[in-house]
Amino acid sequence: MKRALLFTALAGCATTGALAAPANPMPMPSQDIPARVEALLRQMTLEEKAGQLNQLSGKDFTGPETASKTNKLKDIREGHVGSMLNIRGVAQTREIQALALQSRLKIPLLFGLDVIHGYKTVFPVPLGEAASWDLEAIEQSARIAALEASASGVHWTFAPMVDIGRDPRWGRVMEGAGEDVFLGSSIARARVHGFQTDKLGGVDAIMATAKHFAAYGAAIAGRDYNAVDMSEQQLHETYLPPFHAAVDAGVATFMNAFNTLNGIPATASTMLQRDILKGSWKFPGFVVSDWGSVREMVVHGYVADLSGAAQAAMAGGSDMDMEGHAYRTHLPELARAGKVNMAQVDDAVRRVLTKKFELGLFDDPYRFSDAEREKRVMADPSHRAIARDVARKSMVLLKNERATLPLARTLQRIAVVGPFADARRDLEGGWIVQSDAANVVSLLDGIRSHAGSAKVDHIKVDGLQGALDAKAIQQAAAADVIVLAVGETWDMSGEAKSRSDISLPGRQEALFAALQATGKPVVAVIFAGRPLIFNHIADGAAAILYAWFPGSEGGNAVADVLFGDHNPAGRLPMTFPRNMGQVPISYVQYQTGRPVRDENSIVYKSAYIDSPNTPRYAFGYGLSYTSFAYSDLRLSKKRIGPTEQATLSFTLTNTGKRAGAEVAQLYLHDRVASLVRPLKELKGFQRVVLQPGESRTLSFTIDQAMLSFINARLQRVAEPGEFDVMVGASSDDIRLNTVLELGGAM
Ligand code: BGC
Repeated sequence: MKRALLFTALAGCATTGALAAPANPMPMPSQDIPARVEALLRQMTLEEKAGQLNQLSGKDFTGPETASKTNKLKDIREGHVGSMLNIRGVAQTREIQALALQSRLKIPLLFGLDVIHGYKTVFPVPLGEAASWDLEAIEQSARIAALEASASGVHWTFAPMVDIGRDPRWGRVMEGAGEDVFLGSSIARARVHGFQTDKLGGVDAIMATAKHFAAYGAAIAGRDYNAVDMSEQQLHETYLPPFHAAVDAGVATFMNAFNTLNGIPATASTMLQRDILKGSWKFPGFVVSDWGSVREMVVHGYVADLSGAAQAAMAGGSDMDMEGHAYRTHLPELARAGKVNMAQVDDAVRRVLTKKFELGLFDDPYRFSDAEREKRVMADPSHRAIARDVARKSMVLLKNERATLPLARTLQRIAVVGPFADARRDLEGGWIVQSDAANVVSLLDGIRSHAGSAKVDHIKVDGLQGALDAKAIQQAAAADVIVLAVGETWDMSGEAKSRSDISLPGRQEALFAALQATGKPVVAVIFAGRPLIFNHIADGAAAILYAWFPGSEGGNAVADVLFGDHNPAGRLPMTFPRNMGQVPISYVQYQTGRPVRDENSIVYKSAYIDSPNTPRYAFGYGLSYTSFAYSDLRLSKKRIGPTEQATLSFTLTNTGKRAGAEVAQLYLHDRVASLVRPLKELKGFQRVVLQPGESRTLSFTIDQAMLSFINARLQRVAEPGEFDVMVGASSDDIRLNTVLELGGAM
């Protein structure tokens, strides 16, 4: 057994670039907030305290008068509501805030909303943005979302979702940053900063939420809301770090999760919320439950009734009850009966009030609700330009045979075919809050505006439903190139959209085969919120562009890539399997005692007899219209001591004829350790733009933190020994490698 070096810091080496953030006017003074909170708390009744921990949905506010609406309005006026979700727009937020100000203590409401990938201007779905590996672009997307949402009276977004997702059946992988701990943590920080800026208090800074705490992405069999069963070591090593990164970035709130974790609902987990989050990590913000997750503990069979649910959630560290009605109904009586700890209730209220002060709502409850600003910000044309740039950066070129792309300017005729050729709503993806699908640029619009003198034929064959129209397909043969737009509809991924089969739905692969039979090159553009399986297209298409759900400017962004106005540089943030049997799947693989060393010799090896182990497309993979060479790997030291660092450097050269971005990836492997370590773990990356022929020296600093892992006793340790150091263009395309030795303890 090797001696472990214990330490606590978890270092990362990717940098979140400084973003030219718009001014953050008038941050509120924070020095006297604790005193103001205490003064208020002293005046509050038990009912008013429970009220601050009660969050209701305003969804039914726009419809007819209902009993539920009447009750909610009354509750707000009487100070029994601390926050509303699904209320937006200056007019509505002003109206509802005015009701809260009629209450005895005039405590303003917080307005929360799922601003997941844009507000009025829709950006790519988060998984798509993650494929850009461009932290500045991702931060900027969150910034624009915050500008628009805040101008519409919204104080708080329920984003980013930082759940690690390794099972593409789970529809919510669409909302996250994919499968990797390091990439996910880097993106968590970028998104939090984009939403919140450096400090809450500016009128364009909204509170972010790290969700869903925790391990929600590991639902058994990829079925949403399902139980999670995992070792604490895996929890700490893989699922918690992006949450920790969000805390480090100053995230204002957390949301817990619907799932049970090893038998205990996350909503009632003292281990997660009290010991880890508020204890070890010293998180100063508050935790909101997921929608009704407090009351769902009755359905789980964890508590007998709603009162028990309120008691368990409060003990577990859930500060605010989202649409569960458990705190509002039962906390006062539980407190009077001594069944909840009053110090815990006060602590929860304190946390909520502190955020209201930090946002400046006690100084001006309407400060986010300014009609003139709302009008001006929503009309800002720069937001769409940024959305277009982020969308094209998110796209991943999976295949490009015989340099089919970019499309030649000499083409005379382009056929655009498939169910998504003129789609608008689908290009937005799920979790849309304030956009108008009519304003989305379709693929056809984008191609038409880029095609110059080439004739663009829209050939209407669906492929999702019904039979394929052979006559229409034949028309495509007249074109020089066929652009086939396939994928999932917007509502096939997202919450409660788990699929047991992630193949391209309907007859889209058959449509591809029919088009391929025309003999014309087929360029497939795939719209989706998750990795899909599309083996016929993967084998037979001339080129494939994975466009995710790209948002308002989707059609323009795809066309920018197809016509070469943008050189694609997206890299997959999730592994794409060949078949369902490989799922769940990730590049993070542990060495077995029987590894496959030769695909032709798999007897008694850790293999499938009917499928290779390797995925269709690996994590980190993506092509460019240019090529890059890696050379001259140098390590400043072959051996480092516990407090030392080594600098790894290498030369990256653009060996092609176009300017382009490469994402150089650093992977490490601890050869012998007290727990068997993954064969590769991403520990750094750099996205670099190079002109044709240009070379640049890139370097990474490797220190003990990067060599560390969570051991069997849940301690972060770096064990002395040898480490493989690998630099490559993707997790399965390592171009340079060497070995670094970590010496023993001081
Ligand atoms: C989702 C959350 C979301 C909440 C509020 C829940 O169903 O799991 O992610 O923030 O609804 O809309």
